[in-house]
Amino acid sequence: MSAPDAKQRRRGERAELLDIALTAAHGAAAIIRTRASEVRSIEWRKKGPSDFVSDVDMSAEHAIRAVLEREAPEAIVLGEEMSPTAAVDAGVAFVVDPLDGTTNFLHGYPEYAVSIGALLGGRLAAGVVLNVPLGDIFTATLGGGAYRNGERLSVSTIADPSLALIGTGFPFRDLHQIDRYLRQFAAVTRGTAGLRRAGSAALDLADVAAGRFDGFWELRLSPWDFAAGTLLVREAGGLVTDLAGADDPFVPSSVVAGSPAMHAWLLHTLNEP
Ligand code: IPD
Ligand code: CA
Ligand code: CA
Repeated sequence: MSAPDAKQRRRGERAELLDIALTAAHGAAAIIRTRASEVRSIEWRKKGPSDFVSDVDMSAEHAIRAVLEREAPEAIVLGEEMSPTAAVDAGVAFVVDPLDGTTNFLHGYPEYAVSIGALLGGRLAAGVVLNVPLGDIFTATLGGGAYRNGERLSVSTIADPSLALIGTGFPFRDLHQIDRYLRQFAAVTRGTAGLRRAGSAALDLADVAAGRFDGFWELRLSPWDFAAGTLLVREAGGLVTDLAGADDPFVPSSVVAGSPAMHAWLLHTLNEP
């Protein structure tokens, strides 16, 4: 048998990273699921305005890191709770949100997820978003497509904004952004069929990849909120940029996502008001 060529090798590496991320995400989801039944007695603390962390977030990240350290000891981990300032380099890195939608989780509102993106050479190579209450598993590898429970995903084909359903996130921590956001909210509400705010950016992006949302925007997200979801959307045929149309994925930034048609409409509409 001949040696694998460079392309096959890269495909193999991405599949391997996806497997590791999946194992880690399943472990975290099991912890979150167990604790969901006693949500009223979980203690939380405030990290900042409207920003909470509980020992469930911590235990989930701990479990993820244990898998990553065992399976990819050389990898850098940029994790929301334990290493939020780790610098991604040219090797392997994982970008981890152990519980996206903490506020929902703490209120028993069933919209939260584990999100793990894997980078190779500074580029998104694989991603998992695991919807914990529903058990839906969204996966993607660079060049290999996006899937929900093994079924291939593609972004919406709606090109008429008046038919579009758009997801968003409110600037509930960056209150100085509210006036700007409300102008955008008004413009998008006027131009589309409706807006939804469910409270987990990773799931919002997964919903764009699945064609349930035609587009999505939020004024400020962190890399762990959008790393895996960005790859899902792109591999499903959509676009993800910041509000300026730039692609700078591993710093806190605004996020605009959608099918090519709705992404273009959103960029134009959001930059107008
Ligand atoms: C939050 C969720 C939410 C978004 C916030 C995020 P967290 O993540 O993704 O939808 O609006 O900006 O910080 O804090 O629950 O992991
Ligand atoms: Ca998050
Ligand atoms: Ca989180």
